[in-house]
Amino acid sequence: MKKVFISGASSGIGEYLAYSYSKLNYYVGLAARRENNLNKVATKCVELGGKAKIYPLDVLNEIQCSVAIKDFISLPGSVEAVYANAGAGTPDELSSGSSSAMNRILSINILGVTNTVMPFIPYMKSIKNGKIAVICSIASFRGLAHHSAYSGSKAAVRNICQGWGTALYKYGISVTAICPGFIKSEMTDNNEFYMPFLMDTDVAVKKIIRAVDKKRKVFIFPWQMRFFTVPIMKYAPDWIFRKFSI
Ligand SMILES: NC(=O)c1ccc[n+]([C@@H]2O[C@H](COP(=O)([O-])OP(=O)(O)OC[C@H]3O[C@@H](n4cnc5c(N)ncnc54)[C@H](OP(=O)(O)O)[C@@H]3O)[C@@H](O)[C@H]2O)c1
Repeated sequence: MKKVFISGASSGIGEYLAYSYSKLNYYVGLAARRENNLNKVATKCVELGGKAKIYPLDVLNEIQCSVAIKDFISLPGSVEAVYANAGAGTPDELSSGSSSAMNRILSINILGVTNTVMPFIPYMKSIKNGKIAVICSIASFRGLAHHSAYSGSKAAVRNICQGWGTALYKYGISVTAICPGFIKSEMTDNNEFYMPFLMDTDVAVKKIIRAVDKKRKVFIFPWQMRFFTVPIMKYAPDWIFRKFSI
């Protein structure tokens, strides 16, 4: 039986990744903090034809991650992919006088990724196979006003993916940095602003899995954002962004 490990599987993109792989009869490892949600997701995965084991954990806890991943590797079957998907995106709180809000986002979105991926690497090297997918963001292409911890953390992990991809290529391990625009999830449910090209979660997840299967290095979607939004984010002058920033 093929296995896939997903962090942040208790809602949103991670939850739908779990359902997609379950329909293909995979054994899914589901990690996140909310155990109740994980149990519900696991039940549905089994109904859809998969097998599931839950790992209630905080991706900031290196030991919890390492213990969970060792257990998942030891289960029957070979691990085909790991999705470092868990993430958070609250504002910088620039007037707070405290680094807490920013540090929290930087930690979850960067250390959460290394804690989820690193324990798999010796195993994947030993079997000379494996797919690593990190959910980055279109936000990684520019430092965003009031969300600089979020955009900075996503830029960092996109860069880390590039380094991992180069180093691990010779072991048959692919690394894909997934850069979505706006996808329906608990994260975007809270946004009060207009979200162009907002995509349904199941549609997004199909595209993500296809990109990972094709071993794409960086996958930016939807295409409208790949061709228009990202070049603007990279090359438009600062004054344009100042004009629209609060
Ligand atoms: N939705 C979008 O438009 C969009 C766009 C670009 C990138 N992304 C990225 O996509 C990923 C998934 O987000 P989503 O949109 O699906 O939002 P979501 O529904 O809020 O999911 C976030 C997931 O991360 C988990 N998580 C957060 N902090 C965690 C921690 N410390 N330890 C373990 N798990 C943790 C949450 O589970 P618990 O709360 O149960 O721990 C939840 O399962 C994130 O990395 C996000 O930055 C989303």
